[in-house]
Amino acid sequence: MTDDLDPAERLSHVALQKLQLDRLRWTLRHAYQNVASYRRRWDAAGVHPDDLRSLDDLPRFPFTTKDDLRAGYPYGSFAVPMEQVRRVHASSGTTGKPTVVGYTERDLDDWAGLVARSIRAAGGRPGDTVHVAYGYGLFTGGLGAHYGAERLGCTVVPASGGMTARQVTLIQDLRPDVIMVTPSYMLTLLDEFERQGADPRATSLRVGIFGAEPWTEAMRVEIEERFGLDAVDVYGLSEVMGPGVAQEFAETKDGLHLWEDHFYPEIVDPVTGELLPDGVRGELVLTPLTKQAMPVVRYRTGDLTRLLPGTARPAFRRMERVTGRTDDMIILRGVNVFPTQIEEVVLGVAGLSPHFQLVLDRLERLDRMTVRVEARPGCPDGRRDPAARELAAAVKDGAGVSVEVEVVAPETLERSVGKLRRVVDRRG
Ligand code: DLL
Repeated sequence: MTDDLDPAERLSHVALQKLQLDRLRWTLRHAYQNVASYRRRWDAAGVHPDDLRSLDDLPRFPFTTKDDLRAGYPYGSFAVPMEQVRRVHASSGTTGKPTVVGYTERDLDDWAGLVARSIRAAGGRPGDTVHVAYGYGLFTGGLGAHYGAERLGCTVVPASGGMTARQVTLIQDLRPDVIMVTPSYMLTLLDEFERQGADPRATSLRVGIFGAEPWTEAMRVEIEERFGLDAVDVYGLSEVMGPGVAQEFAETKDGLHLWEDHFYPEIVDPVTGELLPDGVRGELVLTPLTKQAMPVVRYRTGDLTRLLPGTARPAFRRMERVTGRTDDMIILRGVNVFPTQIEEVVLGVAGLSPHFQLVLDRLERLDRMTVRVEARPGCPDGRRDPAARELAAAVKDGAGVSVEVEVVAPETLERSVGKLRRVVDRRG
């Protein structure tokens, strides 16, 4: 077998920084010359691409926000003529218009290369069969995973999301080695295996590459034990590329290595925008370094994490798994809570399943949160009340808030087929 390791992964730290500076200079010039909104905003801020002499000069340039990109809907942020755009995707956008993103042929080639690199880091190898259950379509998950797996030399099963019973049949019959899917849909698949009386531990799956939504260490343990595979994290976002921006290595399982030859990361204070040092938690800001169709400079991802030194690939920094988004944070009577904090706790209570929902409502002008959680199949009825009390106490202890807990019967909460919505806000 040929050595399939991407040569960029062997870069030294010094060589990587030089490459980043060269690419960053190119990106700034490309954006300034070809996208009117960058030119306007940078002129107003009194900065010019020539002001970037070292990587440390980047914070002089203004951030780009989702609103900036929305303002250019649909193609206003593109930096090349449409004849050079080979594909568009669009971000989920829960309210209003989605954000349309574009790729040239080279962008697609880079993307496939980075996803191939990610799958390999996750433990996939040429010759493996990869079941892709991320949705295909405008969402970047399906096609992004697909072309990366092909690039690595794998056989792809393009299952997409949905038709859950058929997914189980495909996994049993086509014998994939790797599955790429959201962690919440993986749980839906688990239930379906059990419903069909099939043993999820008996599948051919060796590696699961999960992302597109926050998940926790407790969920890793749950999925690894129940499926008997290695579960690793993949991160990405449409505005910057799609899946494959950062990937966790199967051999270390210690957070995600950011592919810094293509993306320059910064961490800022989510409120003040002030730059924070490595090791401190804040909001991730990303600047893609090679994007032709849609350069984005200092994009505020909204994702909360921190940067750590590289391990499996020492030249690349890691990012800790994303705790949540700035806009997912629930402020309950003055206390900040993330759904992932509840997930960690739910999975520690015997008799409770990983399926839960957070319902927010208002009672006598006070905000209230109810954790609606399914009992595990087979959990005796008499166990439900003690489990509810245990969970409420554990949430109070771990997250510092009082919540109501309602333990519901198995299979009563809505299942995810893609990205999960954990929070139901009824506060009006
Ligand atoms: O979710 C791209 C993707 C597809 C990543 C498949 C991984 C796997 P968007 O739909 O634009 O793109 O959503 C991006 O999803 O800003 C995060 O808030 C969240 N997200 C993505 N990966 C993770 C992860 C895709 N591993 C938004 N952990 C991002 C936590 C994640 N959140």
